[in-house]
Amino acid sequence: MKNLSLYNHDLLPTVGLGLWKTPKSDAAKTVHDAIKIGYRHLDSACDYGNEVEVGNGIKLALSKGLCKRDELWVTSKLWNTYHKKEHVRPALERTLKDLQIDRIDLYLIHFPIAQEFVPFDVRYPPEWLYETSGEDPKIKFANVSIQETWGAMEQLVRDGLVRNIGICNFGTSMLRDLLTYAEIHPSVLQVERHPYLAQPKLLKFCQSNDITLTGFSPLGAGSYLELGMAKPEDSVLDETLISEIAGSHGKTPAQIVLRWGIQQGTSVIPKSTRQERLRENLEVFDFVLSDIEMASMNKLDRNHRFNDPGVFAEKAFNTFCPIYE
Ligand code: A2P
Repeated sequence: MKNLSLYNHDLLPTVGLGLWKTPKSDAAKTVHDAIKIGYRHLDSACDYGNEVEVGNGIKLALSKGLCKRDELWVTSKLWNTYHKKEHVRPALERTLKDLQIDRIDLYLIHFPIAQEFVPFDVRYPPEWLYETSGEDPKIKFANVSIQETWGAMEQLVRDGLVRNIGICNFGTSMLRDLLTYAEIHPSVLQVERHPYLAQPKLLKFCQSNDITLTGFSPLGAGSYLELGMAKPEDSVLDETLISEIAGSHGKTPAQIVLRWGIQQGTSVIPKSTRQERLRENLEVFDFVLSDIEMASMNKLDRNHRFNDPGVFAEKAFNTFCPIYE
């Protein structure tokens, strides 16, 4: 349960540390502290803008002997501006340099969205806008197929730079298409997942095709409050049902929600910069939710997605960019 066996028998630690929105100023310490507490799975990305600091945290932990490199699972993600085949390897090499490691365990296509290339010396990470100044800054899309990008990702595995490859934010139709041409099987699909966005059909599809699902934002609205993308009443942690189940197990609502995810065979990557929450989020292996509790939690599903480019890209970047419809 503490590890999930991928299609190729590589072991993915079930609970990972999400690093999206971890400020640069906290990232090295958070990563070091998390490894010290027992985290063995870090979920990083070029776009999070903190890979140098995450790398400093990894280096410190390894140099202190808190764990060995091969006991640590490091995931990173290819940003949208690097989808052309000639940009995939340089993007990965930049991530490796920043993280100060010579190989990563999992490299994911961050979004099924190809944006126009932005050179490293113009901006890194480039984020969403093509130009950040000017009268009407927008996202500039590029005509690159996922097949082209996937082929270049596969080459990274063949070259020994990456152990596993996968995708984020794909639905079943895109996965089905990917499986028609993939020479190297996608190990992991990472999507937003919590009791308000349970996506049972997507999970079933992944499980029947040997793709392990990782849920980001497993605690629900929390991450989106500070971004103005959720309201306090959207918090699944405040559900009476969750509090009752938490009370009966002597656990916190966050632990119940994480346990719901891992008990379905998914991996979860809660983010925190606070020591006590880092510990709390890892202490989810010493109790079991009953079938009745799982079934009642499944009924909370409202298909409520907080992280939707079809919504935020129009608001924040004045560009219509739906991907799930
Ligand atoms: P903080 O970093 O201050 O702890 P997710 O990874 O699901 O998006 O959740 C991250 C958000 O939830 C962050 O705002 C984080 O804040 C908060 N959070 C992390 N762990 C817990 C927890 N155990 N209980 C409540 N909130 C948490």
